[in-house]
Amino acid sequence: MKKFLFSLLAAVMSVLIIGCQNNKKVETMIEKSLYGKLPNGKEVYEFRLHNTSGMQVNIINYGAIVRSIIVPDRNGKFEDVTLGYDSLTGYINDNSYQGSIVGRYGNRIGKGQFSLEGVNYQLTVNDGENHLHGGKIGFHKVLWDAKVVSDTGEPALVLTYVSADGEEGYPGNVTVTVTYTLTNNNELRIDYNGTTDKPTILNPTHHSYFNLTGNPANTILDHQLMIDADTFTPVDKGLITTGEKKSVDKTPMDFRTPFAIGERINDKFEQLAFGKGYDHNWVLRNYDGKVNKTVELYEPLSGRLMTVYTDQPGMQFYSGNFLDGSINGKKGIGYQYRTGLCLEAQCFPDSPNKPEFPSVTLRPGQEYNQTTIYQFSIK
Ligand code: BGC
Repeated sequence: MKKFLFSLLAAVMSVLIIGCQNNKKVETMIEKSLYGKLPNGKEVYEFRLHNTSGMQVNIINYGAIVRSIIVPDRNGKFEDVTLGYDSLTGYINDNSYQGSIVGRYGNRIGKGQFSLEGVNYQLTVNDGENHLHGGKIGFHKVLWDAKVVSDTGEPALVLTYVSADGEEGYPGNVTVTVTYTLTNNNELRIDYNGTTDKPTILNPTHHSYFNLTGNPANTILDHQLMIDADTFTPVDKGLITTGEKKSVDKTPMDFRTPFAIGERINDKFEQLAFGKGYDHNWVLRNYDGKVNKTVELYEPLSGRLMTVYTDQPGMQFYSGNFLDGSINGKKGIGYQYRTGLCLEAQCFPDSPNKPEFPSVTLRPGQEYNQTTIYQFSIK
């Protein structure tokens, strides 16, 4: 009987929410439900954040993963614009960092080695001979503590993870907090904070795969991209930065004005051959440590526009070149080549080995902070 009443209540709630969504009058709110259990029996929860204009963001506390971002197209049709999985098992088995927070170090560190204050460190090697996205059990594969905050009028979820000294080879006990806020301006705002008890490195980022068509059967090649950057950091064959900054001028890396991603992606250009497409870090022009507008991604059919704001010096644009149809994502759809793209705000890749790049060193008594905002609108 209890079970029946609960199901009835849940059904009524869903109808109310969908009804409200149609009227575009959703109350600001967060719903929480059990999403699944990890093999060790620990429970994973899903948090569904709604704003006043009907946008919805679903987040789980495993991997601090954003499961869905549901936004309207120019006709008011709400669709999910991110890739991912239906069930927890999908995320447990995933090796493409779907929707997660990656860290401690987002992107690659050559041979997984660096030295800090005279000490050499060897990190887990998980990408050929290099370290990628925090290692095998990085921030994307752990359970985060979750706390709901909704008294500000905008739903927010505070996720905390304590990474132990030596985890994946990194020094220091590091406490990381990621706050996801869904604003009433249709923004997913991500605020990061980190502290340590030993000198270490910290450079987390967010790894959602976007497809603004709302249909992952489409590629992202017709999306138009603008990146506010005059230079990028070239890579070698193993996708490790060389330490240079190269001008984007007269190259397929020039996104200073909007270009369709597919327009030049197959040009004969060594950097594109190394990345199997775009998989590079752009040096953001207006970097001054404050939150600036840096990227615009526009999808002409739906009219959806995503604008990325960040206080970081770099932006990795990855065009989904390693997606190959082998992932069965949401609704069982196989995610094919270039059907999702990532825009990862960060410090320049391999920065611990490149003194000429901005530093990612974090010392006891200091605080790491990052703010990155993905804003959705219609054009
Ligand atoms: C990297 C790619 C990598 C992918 C893994 C991206 O952030 O830039 O090189 O293959 O993550 O899914």
